[in-house]
This record gives sequence, structure tokens and C-alpha cells, in this order.
Amino acid sequence: MAQLIMAQANGRTIGGPDKIFGVSNLAKARIAQIGRENVVNSTIGALLDDDGELIVLSSVVDVLKNLSPVDYAEYAPIAGIPSYLEAVKTAVFGKNIPQGYVEACFTPGGTGAIRNAVSCYTRPGDAVLTSDWHWSPYRTIMTEQGRSLETYTLFDENHRFNAGSFDEKLKSILSRQDETVVIINTPAHNPTGYTFTLSDWDQVITSLKEAAGDTKKIVLLADIAYLDFSGDAEEYRAFLPKLSGLPENILPLIAFSASKGFTMYGMRCGALLCLAPTPEIADEFKAASSVASRASWSNGNRAAMETIARIFNDKELLDKVTREREHYLDVLIRRGTAFMDAARSAGLSMCPYDSGFFVTIPCRDADAVSVELQKYDIFAVPIGGGIRIAICAISEEKCRMIPEKMVAAMNAVDQAK
Ligand SMILES: Cc1ncc(COP(=O)(O)O)c(C=O)c1O
Repeated sequence: MAQLIMAQANGRTIGGPDKIFGVSNLAKARIAQIGRENVVNSTIGALLDDDGELIVLSSVVDVLKNLSPVDYAEYAPIAGIPSYLEAVKTAVFGKNIPQGYVEACFTPGGTGAIRNAVSCYTRPGDAVLTSDWHWSPYRTIMTEQGRSLETYTLFDENHRFNAGSFDEKLKSILSRQDETVVIINTPAHNPTGYTFTLSDWDQVITSLKEAAGDTKKIVLLADIAYLDFSGDAEEYRAFLPKLSGLPENILPLIAFSASKGFTMYGMRCGALLCLAPTPEIADEFKAASSVASRASWSNGNRAAMETIARIFNDKELLDKVTREREHYLDVLIRRGTAFMDAARSAGLSMCPYDSGFFVTIPCRDADAVSVELQKYDIFAVPIGGGIRIAICAISEEKCRMIPEKMVAAMNAVDQAK
């Protein structure tokens, strides 16, 4: 948008083209012309079946349908209904709820949790740190609140976590300000599919301790939006104990989302959790989160909270949801494996994918490559330095055919220069 009329930008980008919807609309138009089976629409960030229909866990829907009218209609407490807040701790930590002072506060999705973490633990003007490859709304959440987003380089030349870049950027930010939030989206990072290893976490924690010293405050926000669609439940939670026992000026928070794991995308259900080292820091978390919620969305979605609470209060129900989810997790894992095998055969270099909804292929002129791919009826979103393919939205067969076409599209763009 060239010029605002009545609105005030206040550091935000208002208007302008939305790349995801732009490419997605082109895909829909092409589907209308030649049929769904002949088009690869890998722009959608939700788990779809092989026919392009949204996968909805029927075990979750059954619980929702059995709620009483009061469960829908009544206001929930600002911080969330107590049974939900207990359920969420199990949803995040599994059987091993850590020692210390764990508190939770309802948020509408993981988005609300990220928003509140920034609102409560940084000041206007502060910079927040995340990786160069990241979910683009992070920046919008920062600028909306008068903060900025700075990035470190996620991968080194060997496609491993670039601990040096992380350390350098964190220390640079804290040389200018007294507090910051560090966002780490793992496991199954959006958009690369990378999962931080336990040794990556050790390096992160060493840097945090050094950078915090005795005087600075760091909030470490683990964005676990894809945790339940990453892999083995215990293995992918093995990093969580590393967040306990940190110095008192480093506060670990967790952004929980029911959007993917419970296919409740539209119900806007999530939570921000803290692993506070002292009861005072835990109480302050609860109070600060409640104020931030009150001022932005106020009370949360009671029906969604009630649904999650009932699932976790009934072992049989929980087993049913877990089994149903595991079936779809297998589908996703097969798609990821098919894509990676085909990428290897085609000699396509990707960001190091471990699990999750997306793979990313770094390339020089991503916009041009995205347009070139459309000649093969493949629709994918250009994101800064690469192309993001939503394997969550396409069949295994389509995953297998993309890499070769991707190489051809990249070669065509290079030759046209
Ligand atoms: C990396 C990441 N974090 C957080 C979210 C939050 O999603 P929601 O607000 O729907 O829970 C998403 C959703 O796409 C995401 O990709």
C-alpha cells in the first residue's frame, strides 16, 4: 500500500501483497481449469489428506460435540479454566512435569502465547532474537507492539546449528538493552523442518548463561507448535528437562498450540507456560500474562479449553486421540521421506529437514523459481532466501515428483540470467 489514508503505521507494514494468498489463489484457479489431481498446491500450512481435504481428528470432534451449552456460552476465567491449565502441562511435558514452578495461562493459539511473551518480558524499542529462517508472523507480532526482530544464521556451511552466529547476535542485542526474548521454534521448525538436537540445546544454554551474566534478563521462548507432529512423543520431549534449573535471570517459557496437534486450528486454543525458578517469578508470570490477555482478547474460548481438559482427564479418550494422530503422523513422515529420497536422487540441496509440515529449498531468486515451478503446475511460496513446500498439504506421490522439477526450475532461472 503506497500511502495510508486514516491508519497509522507505527512501525508496522500495513497492506502490500500477501505472497501466500497470491500463490494459493493461482493454484485454486489452475485447479478449477485442470482438476485437483493435476495440480500441486503446496501453499497451505495445514495437514490435508491426499485429496486435499483438511484432516480433522474425529476423536476431538466427538468430545466437542458432547459439550453442554454452558461450556460454550459461559465466560472462562481470563487465565483459563483450571482443568485446562492442568491438562496443558501434561500436553507439553507428558509424564515428566518438571520440578520448579510451572504455571500456564490460556492464549488464543501459539500466536497469542508469542504475543504475550513479548508484551510481558520486553520493553517498547527492544529487539527480539530468532533465526534467519522463521515463521513470518514473528516480525508482525514484534512490530505491532513496537519491538523489532533480529536474526542469527540458523545453519552453518555443514547444515548444522550455527551456534557461533546465535552467540554473537545474542550478545550484540544484550550490549544494547538489558532484556530480550529468544524464540526457538523446535521440533519440526517452520519453515525448514529442522529439530534442535540435545547438543544444539547445550550450546544455546551456554550462550544464554554467558550473555545474561549477573545483570541481564533473558526469556527463552520455545515455540513448540509442531511438537505432536514431529515424531516419537518421548524422544521429541527430551530437550525439555534442559530448560529447568537455569539461573534466575533466565526464564524459560513455552508456547503451546492446540492448532496442529488437536486439529483445532480455527478454535484458537493455546497457552503460554513458564518454568519459573522461584514462586515469585511464577506469580509474576501469572499476573503479567493475565493483564496482557485482558487487554488484548480478554477471556478465552471456553469450549476449546473444556475439550482439551476432558481429553486429558480420560485415559481412554486420550489414547484414542493419540492413536488417531499417530496414524496421520505416519502419513506425514512418509511424505517427508519421499521428498528427501527424491531430493537426494535429483541432487537437490535442502535445508536440513527432520520432521514436520514444511521443507525449504534455499535458492537465489525464489520469486522467479516459484513462477517457473508454476509451468509444471506446482504452486509453492517463495520466502526470502528459498521456496517453502508444505508437504503437509500434498500426497506422497506429489512429494516424490517435486524435487526433479525444482532442479529444472532453478536451472531455468539461472540460465535466463
Ligand atoms: C512456527 C509457528 N509458531 C506458532 C504458530 C501458531 O499457530 P496458532 O496460533 O494457530 O496456534 C504457527 C502456525 O502456523 C507456526 O507455524
